This record gives sequence, structure tokens and C-alpha cells, in this order.
Amino acid sequence: MFSKKKETSQIDPQQRELYEHARKRIIQKKRLFQHFIIFAVGSLFMIILNILFGLGEEITFLGAYWCVFGSMAWAFFLALHFCNVWVFSTFMGQEWTDRQMERLITKQKEEIALIQRDIDLMYPKDELIKKKEAFITRKASDTIEDTVNTNSMITMIAAAAENNALGKDNDLVWHLPDDFKRFKKLTTGHFIIMGRKTFESFPKLLPDRTHVVITRNKEYKADGAIIVHAMAEALQVAKSDNQPFIIGGGEIYAIGMEKANCIELTRVHHNFEADAFFPEIDTNVWKLEKEEFHDTDEKHKYPFTYLTYIRK
Ligand SMILES: NC(=O)c1ccc[n+]([C@@H]2O[C@H](COP(=O)([O-])OP(=O)(O)OC[C@H]3O[C@@H](n4cnc5c(N)ncnc54)[C@H](OP(=O)(O)O)[C@@H]3O)[C@@H](O)[C@H]2O)c1
Repeated sequence: MFSKKKETSQIDPQQRELYEHARKRIIQKKRLFQHFIIFAVGSLFMIILNILFGLGEEITFLGAYWCVFGSMAWAFFLALHFCNVWVFSTFMGQEWTDRQMERLITKQKEEIALIQRDIDLMYPKDELIKKKEAFITRKASDTIEDTVNTNSMITMIAAAAENNALGKDNDLVWHLPDDFKRFKKLTTGHFIIMGRKTFESFPKLLPDRTHVVITRNKEYKADGAIIVHAMAEALQVAKSDNQPFIIGGGEIYAIGMEKANCIELTRVHHNFEADAFFPEIDTNVWKLEKEEFHDTDEKHKYPFTYLTYIRK
């Protein structure tokens, strides 16, 4: 008993299904056959009762005995039973439904494969993966930047020599009063973003401007200035300003270059020895919008040109 149970439980599910199906069919056919025998005996019995023993002899329809109609009605139900076993169960039984379902699934799979192939052609998988990774990386590192006012005209303002020199020993290497005046005029009332070294090169705070100082030093403090630790953070702090200025020095211009959309550059037409430099301006990225030459005079030892660049 135990071993038989074990045997049946080990039968492959597909075989079990076939076995179940065969068993059901045998039962159906057996019942149909029994129905046929009962019909044959029953009809004979009706004929004997009606014709031989004269039971209900007076009941006729269209000149025929009732046993004829009785047999015919029964034959109709027998025919239905026959159809149910041989026609409907073959064409519309569980097996037929399963087959239809299987066909439908195969068709759906083929259609999905076609759509997938089109998507792969339009967007190659490697590219999609790269884009997704870039998106995740950007999201992780730029959460602060997301809150930056994208309508702001982020402007870098600088005075650089022909060799891009900005200054030496944390000080400027020329004195051009008109350029100072222009710097004051443009930046007054705005946020000015600068590196810690530039900030420390000022004798005092510049009036009517909000100072934002970038440093890696988390302990750094300065009266009257907002201390931040990244360019993105500085721009976020200045997001209420429609034109925040990045005012240097060399390290800060280098990281500001990709964030800015305007450069106000005073090009001093001379070469200087320096230890801080303005980054190269890529003319593929920047378009020269405006230029204004300023010659030498008694107050200005070097000629210079105001250049306004706008990001293309
Ligand atoms: N000609 C001009 O228009 C102009 C304008 C401005 C300045 N300058 C001159 O430029 C020189 C100063 O420029 P510089 O390049 O030496 O110094 P800077 O750019 O003014 O400041 C550098 C400092 O900024 C901080 N910093 C830089 N990158 C950072 C980052 N990614 N994250 C956080 N903090 C960062 C660091 O501060 P910590 O060391 O505290 O971490 C670094 O030491 C001076 O000679 C000045 O006179 C000239």
C-alpha cells in the first residue's frame, strides 16, 4: 500500500494529466454506452406496452402511437449526449480551451518579442544602461543643484592677462581703477561667490554684496560671509539672485566654468608672472557677445578690453 502511494506520487505531472484525461474519457464513453442500452431497452419496453399490451392505445399523434414519439424524444436526448461526448468535448472541452489559451500566449509572446526587437533597435541596451547609470550618478551627486534657480544668469567676472594670469601671492598684479569701478557697478546688490583664498585677500568685506566663501574646511568661519563647501552649495545659497557672480580666484573659476552661462572678462593686454590663472575659454562653448577696448592713460598702465561671453 505504502509503496503504491509512493509510486503514484512520483508520476510526472504531465503523465498524470494524460492519465486523468484518459480516465475521464473512458467514464464518459461508458456512460454514453449505458445510456444507449437503457434507451434501446426503454424504447422496446414502450413499444411492448403500447402496441402489444395496448397501453394508451387511444393516444396517437399524426396517426402514430405515443411510443414512437416517446422513442424519438429519447433518441434526441441520446443524440445530444452523443454530441457532448464526441463533438463538444473534442472541440470545446478543457483540452480545446487549454490549446486555445496556449496559442494565444504564444501569439502574445511573439508580439512582445517584436516590440522588444524594435525597442532594442531604437535604443541599444548598452546605451540605455549607460544613460540609466549616468542618471543615477547625477541624481546622487546633484541633489543640491536640483534646487538651483535655472533662470539665473550665473556670471563669472575676472580680469586676466594675455597669459591668463590672475594674481600672485594672493594679490593682484596690476592696478586698473576703471576695471574696479566696472566690477563694483556690476556686482553691487548681488551674491559674490569666491574661494577662501580670494576672500582672505580682501582687506575688508565689499559693501552691498552678499559674500559666499567656498572652502573644504568644515570648521572655517568668517564674519559677514556665508561659508559653503562646494560650488553647487554656493549656487543653491544664491538661488534667490537672478545674477550671482563667481569672482574667483583661479581654482573657483575652474569649477565655475561649467556652471556659468556668462563671462565678464577684462583682458589685460600684457603677460604677467603669476601663480593663479584663468581657465582657457573654449570658443566652441562660448560666444563673444560684446567687446569694448580701453586704452592706456595716466591711471591705466596697461591697455585692456572688456569681453562679454555668453554660453552657446
Ligand atoms: N584677476 C582677477 O580677476 C582675480 C579675481 C579673484 C582672485 N584673483 C587672484 O587669484 C588668486 C587666488 O586664486 P586661487 O586659485 O589661488 O584661490 P581661490 O580660488 O581664491 O581659493 C582656493 C580655495 O578655495 C577652496 N576650494 C577650491 N576648490 C574647492 C572645492 N572644489 N570645494 C571646496 N573648496 C574649494 C579651497 O579652500 P580651502 O583651502 O580653505 O579648503 C582652496 O584653497 C589671488 O592671487 C587673487 O588675487 C584674481
